[in-house]
Amino acid sequence: MDFQYTEEQLMLRQTVRDFAEQELAKDARERDAEERFPTEQVKKMGELGFMGIQVDPKYGGGGMDTVAYAILIEELSRVDASAGVICSVNNSLVCYGLEKFASEEIKQKYLVPLAKGEKLGSFCLSEPGSGSDASALKTTVVRDGDEWVINGTKNFITNGVHADVYIVFATEDPSKGYKGVRCIVVDRDNPGVKIGKKEKKLGIRSSDTASIIFEDCRVPVSNLVGEPEKGFRIALTILDCGRIGIAAQAMGIAVGAFEAAVKYAKEREQFGRPIARFQAIQFMLAEMDTRIHAARWLIYHAANLKDRGEPYEAAASRAKLYASETAMFCADRAVQIHGGYGYTKDYPVERFLRDAKITEIYEGTSEIQKLVIARHVLK
Ligand code: CAA
Repeated sequence: MDFQYTEEQLMLRQTVRDFAEQELAKDARERDAEERFPTEQVKKMGELGFMGIQVDPKYGGGGMDTVAYAILIEELSRVDASAGVICSVNNSLVCYGLEKFASEEIKQKYLVPLAKGEKLGSFCLSEPGSGSDASALKTTVVRDGDEWVINGTKNFITNGVHADVYIVFATEDPSKGYKGVRCIVVDRDNPGVKIGKKEKKLGIRSSDTASIIFEDCRVPVSNLVGEPEKGFRIALTILDCGRIGIAAQAMGIAVGAFEAAVKYAKEREQFGRPIARFQAIQFMLAEMDTRIHAARWLIYHAANLKDRGEPYEAAASRAKLYASETAMFCADRAVQIHGGYGYTKDYPVERFLRDAKITEIYEGTSEIQKLVIARHVLK
């Protein structure tokens, strides 16, 4: 099997790279230090069509394939992994889910502005007591006439403070287990929505992560996404797509760290020569390069399966598992190659190392990815 980028994918890579280097690179370090959301940059990402890159153009999207989506997230994250996850969540956890499962009315009202980047979305599944065991959620939804009434607290919600639209998972009947879970769209300006604790994080610090509290939050019954009993399956289907996005984010972090390490190794002189001339450094670079290539193929394989309409759940988990380990490996080696300087804020590699860790945790920990893969191996 061979793979070649299409002209369209190559043009996209260049466009995203130019954007990232001109608009994200200049203050990525300051935004990280100040935990400042990239509001202006996200607006521009919307104008460039990055926020709904795969959505059908009739709903305001870019109509591109999943490989293009992976290129987009990799290129953003190569410079700024916070921008990468903001964009990834809007594309896969929100737009993809709405396009695949929501009614035409929801698509017109919510998907169109989300895909155009006029609004920002977030995905509210995790709770204080349910992370990996996602179906054990406690947020309730009760039908009252023409409305749903939602009560509960969601945790670790990416884009939580800045989102205009929330995709919320809540149970209508806890005795039914995952079959009681419903998927409902909620507007940020609903009086029943309150922003809770904003997390202070190790990495991806300029993305926002918050608790969202729903208190007698009333929404029209027409805001239900998909068939009522399929709510949990909708969440897992969306997460399969999201895992390709996080794998691509990890890939971008790995590449950013690798490129910084190569540059530094060529410039830094010790023992009378650039450190790139020493095998100890060369072996680290060779291992980073090999893992990056392997991770990229796993991501493109999962993306390609999805684009062909074939099952890709295990492929997405393999890609995320391996790419996130690759991000950690490459960022760690990049700091090592930089020596003492790598441990300071003067170089970007310490940020890559902090940012890499989350890719092993969110949208399913590495242990959950192994569980998904093992189920496929054993079934
Ligand atoms: N797609 C669609 N349906 C699926 C599915 C998939 N990938 N995997 C399972 N299902 C279906 C099953 O077929 C079953 O439905 P039926 O009975 O109708 O066939 C139903 O879902 C329940 O499946 P399981 O019994 O396998 O469910 P489980 O409780 O054992 O959980 C799990 C499976 C893989 C552990 C799952 O809970 C999981 O992925 N957990 C991790 C949650 C996660 O990734 N959270 C991330 C939060 S969001 C986030 O991080 C976003 C962010 O901020 C960036």
